[in-house]
Amino acid sequence: MRELKIFAVVVFFSLLTYWLVEPYAHHQMHMKVDKDGKEIVIKSHGFTYDGTDDIAEAERKGDAALVTKKKAFWADVKTVAALKGNAAAGETVFANCIGCHNGANINMGGVIPPNLDHSGAIYDKNYLIALIKDPAMAGNVDHKYADTSLHPMGSIKFTVSDNQQIADVVAYMQEKKAGEVTPKEAFTEACVRCHAVRYTKTTQLGDTPKFKHKKDELAHEIKVIEEQDLVKAYMGNLPPDLSMMIRARGEHFMETFIENPQGQLAGTSMPRVGLNQEGYEKVKEYLTEAGDPSKKAREQLGPWVIGFFVFFTILAFLWKKSMWRDLH
Ligand code: HEC
Ligand code: HEC
Repeated sequence: MRELKIFAVVVFFSLLTYWLVEPYAHHQMHMKVDKDGKEIVIKSHGFTYDGTDDIAEAERKGDAALVTKKKAFWADVKTVAALKGNAAAGETVFANCIGCHNGANINMGGVIPPNLDHSGAIYDKNYLIALIKDPAMAGNVDHKYADTSLHPMGSIKFTVSDNQQIADVVAYMQEKKAGEVTPKEAFTEACVRCHAVRYTKTTQLGDTPKFKHKKDELAHEIKVIEEQDLVKAYMGNLPPDLSMMIRARGEHFMETFIENPQGQLAGTSMPRVGLNQEGYEKVKEYLTEAGDPSKKAREQLGPWVIGFFVFFTILAFLWKKSMWRDLH
């Protein structure tokens, strides 16, 4: 009986530390504060984008001109979102996008423009509008440019400048570029132009093919390094390999970081990617599987292992009883 009591006390204090003391200490030690010492709370908005975070960030910097600029930009996005888009007319506008987003795997100004086959399914509607209005503002990396039309996709605001045209092309994407999307497709379209995943043999050039000859393998490696050099020159740093990232950083960090990279890493060159909830879930699924491919099998095996132990505990107990029976 005494042992049980001691055990209960140990369990109680372990749980207390785990659920209350540790999270509290973590919160205190990692608190983000603004310039007046007020705590900055980073919340997720369910992967919808209306500029709230960007405006709050500009306010924290105390830059009145920037606040006005951000407010005007996101108000403009809202105006376009209220228009009714015509998907058929949008198809013609989409021809402007294909000039760069053509699957030719050619680096443009730092990265390979991603495939847009599922862009209507994985990106938020407001974000797509913002992106066509001004990619640097949408990604919240406008601080990197003296003139945001210098962004590698920045010229889009001259070719597609009419609000109705923007509404049309977004309607087209949501109708024709949506549909079922696999975790791998979502991840490839949203992240691979910048990030490699060693565990799945994915580089900034996509899947690594199997080569028969060493010479071809080395030639491919050189191409990867050349691509990485371009990404590095564009981003300032080579974006980290994401194989273990979700396990290292945790899901909450991942979610708030993808929605608003500046909120977690002020001044980071990683742009906001603009995924919607569905797109994020797919990317998360891909990264969870990549970092821990045996997770599913392990979880299926778990109950069997426990069953095995229970079975042998019962056998051991019965055996003990039968051995001691004559001695009592
Ligand atoms: C001048 C070339 C060019 C044109 C034209 C262009 N894009 Fe892009 N686009 C890019 C590049 C380069 C990137 C990658 C930028 C980056 O990652 O910083 C990109 C990124 C994107 C992304 C991913 C954004 C994200 O945040 O993940 C989407 C979606 C997109 N473009 C849609 C479009 C649409 C829709 C059009 C036509 C209305 C278009 N693009 C026209 C070059 C272009
Ligand atoms: C246009 C390039 C670009 C794209 C697209 C991009 N990233 Fe990044 N990412 C970066 C860069 C650059 C960094 C390094 C940030 C830094 O150190 O400031 C980074 C860092 C990260 C980090 C690490 C943050 C940390 O705490 O160190 C994570 C996680 C991440 N990216 C996830 C993603 C995911 C998931 C996607 C796709 C949904 C994605 N990124 C798309 C450029 C990109």
